Amino acid sequence: MKVIIVENYEEASQEAAKIFINQVKEKPNSILGLATGSTPVRMYELLREDHEKNHTSYKDVKSYNLDEYFGLDASHPQSYHYFMYKNLFNGIDIKDENVHVPCGQGNIQENCDEYNKMLAENPIDIQLLGIGSNGHIGFNEPADVFEEYTHCVELTQNTIDANKRFFESEEEVPRKAYTMGIGTIMRAKRIVLVVSGEDKADILRKVIEGPVTPKVPASILKFHPYVTIVADKAALSLCNKQY
Ligand code: GLP
Repeated sequence: MKVIIVENYEEASQEAAKIFINQVKEKPNSILGLATGSTPVRMYELLREDHEKNHTSYKDVKSYNLDEYFGLDASHPQSYHYFMYKNLFNGIDIKDENVHVPCGQGNIQENCDEYNKMLAENPIDIQLLGIGSNGHIGFNEPADVFEEYTHCVELTQNTIDANKRFFESEEEVPRKAYTMGIGTIMRAKRIVLVVSGEDKADILRKVIEGPVTPKVPASILKFHPYVTIVADKAALSLCNKQY
């Protein structure tokens, strides 16, 4: 895993934005794997600014998002579908038909099968990831096994607590979510993990220096041939190796 060390969140966002802009310039029909959470918000803003200023075009790009809350309609302000339009898609020229976020409503098995089929036919060129403070990627929570495909998960209390800040109250946080599986994430040709802030320092140390285990889902990234971790100094502050 290559680690790019930056000073702070702003630099991490700029670094990650640069990687994605170059990807789209080099391969205009790229298939992007996208993430939500607070980490990519600034990066997405930079992509929108770049699109406006430099006209980097996403008209031939396809995107597949990692995850979605179970039970939330796409129009719900806390749905990841809504988040993606607000933070990125409304500000670039990607086509609606090329945007894919797991459907939060309807039949669980059908939704998962449909997403898996699309992902099998559209291998991801570059996957953006954030990390939960318990090591989750997408919504792959700490578990006894690595799940391969898109599935519906029970969110852990840790994740419900972390995400309740986006909702009016804890009761409103959905208890389940859809997520791409670890197998699908690992099949992306390139993975970019962005980590910022001291809250993530303990988990980032486990990812970089600990064993590969489904108890720390992001630790599997060690087995991927092309992972770039963009991390700021606060996030790297507990690593034994000096960054
Ligand atoms: C959420 C998302 C993840 C995201 C993580 C970290 O629960 N499902 O894809 O990476 O939490 O979020 P943040 O960037 O806000 O710390």
